[in-house]
Amino acid sequence: VIGVGGTGVMNSVLYALATLGFNREVLVQAPYYNNYKGQVENTMSFVNGTMNGLKFNLDADPELHTTFEINTYPNNPDGRKRAPLVSDPSRVIYDCVYNWPQYTAIDEDPLEGDIMIFSASKNTGHAGTRLGWALVKDPEIADKMREFVARSLGVSIDTQLRIYSVLKSINSDFVAEKSGFYDWGSSTMNDRFDQVDSLFGESGVMREIEFVNRKERGAYVWLKCLKGIDCQRVLREEVFVEGNSGIQYGVGGEYVRIQFMARSVEIEQFLISLKNFFEGGDKLGRGYEMRDGDGGEGRTMGMGMGRGGGC
Ligand SMILES: Cc1ncc(COP(=O)(O)O)c(C=O)c1O
Repeated sequence: VIGVGGTGVMNSVLYALATLGFNREVLVQAPYYNNYKGQVENTMSFVNGTMNGLKFNLDADPELHTTFEINTYPNNPDGRKRAPLVSDPSRVIYDCVYNWPQYTAIDEDPLEGDIMIFSASKNTGHAGTRLGWALVKDPEIADKMREFVARSLGVSIDTQLRIYSVLKSINSDFVAEKSGFYDWGSSTMNDRFDQVDSLFGESGVMREIEFVNRKERGAYVWLKCLKGIDCQRVLREEVFVEGNSGIQYGVGGEYVRIQFMARSVEIEQFLISLKNFFEGGDKLGRGYEMRDGDGGEGRTMGMGMGRGGGC
């Protein structure tokens, strides 16, 4: 089933869940992608003439047949591949938008989820073209998803042709000869992570900041300020980088996520700035106590993907 980005495809899955049953709850494990909550809570459907919605519930009982889990595989923000809490595979939705070689080691035994969502956004970086797709085992769910997509008259043919030509191009002999798109992507990302690794050293901790996803890696750098201080502020005011606070991902503000799919020139600046910060002293000073939702102005370089704060 195709849809408007991974987001549109996820919306179509949620619509199918709301249409095919009552009182369904959606569970995710923290830290989780910040958009899911709103997506779940905005899903409504009529069932037998009755308005039916979904509930976003982090404490939903995984054993109940009404509980469904979104498992981001690998995860945004921390790159981990987690086992689902829900053991019934028909009740797990895998969000696989980062399951590409540039972000993770591809499993020897490929994942075989009942519902697996992918997207051109993270595959080749064509987020603005808005194409997502899902592999769905249950034909009834797939039909409901298509019904949802059809309500907005489907996915733009221009979008489909654009991504078709992008995929053709990355599979071309020319790209293959130059060692392949995914080899290039994974060596670029690994090289970036190696540099962060070397700044943090053996222990993975510098100036009381821990490099949490040093093993898992992924599409982001996920940091934790060990003293429980506001890590987003530390990065903003000391490293001049605007990250996303862990609060958005259902964990505390001692975490911060740094965009790592950015342009090389931005990554180089980030690495220089982080090195300068590490060389500037041994401990974080006072003045970084946690202030939830603090949106202070700092001298920062934006490392976003230029498509708003949703990613
Ligand atoms: C885990 C996850 N799922 C889905 C999406 C949405 O992707 P798309 O641009 O394909 O809608 C994102 C975007 O950042 C994401 O991080």
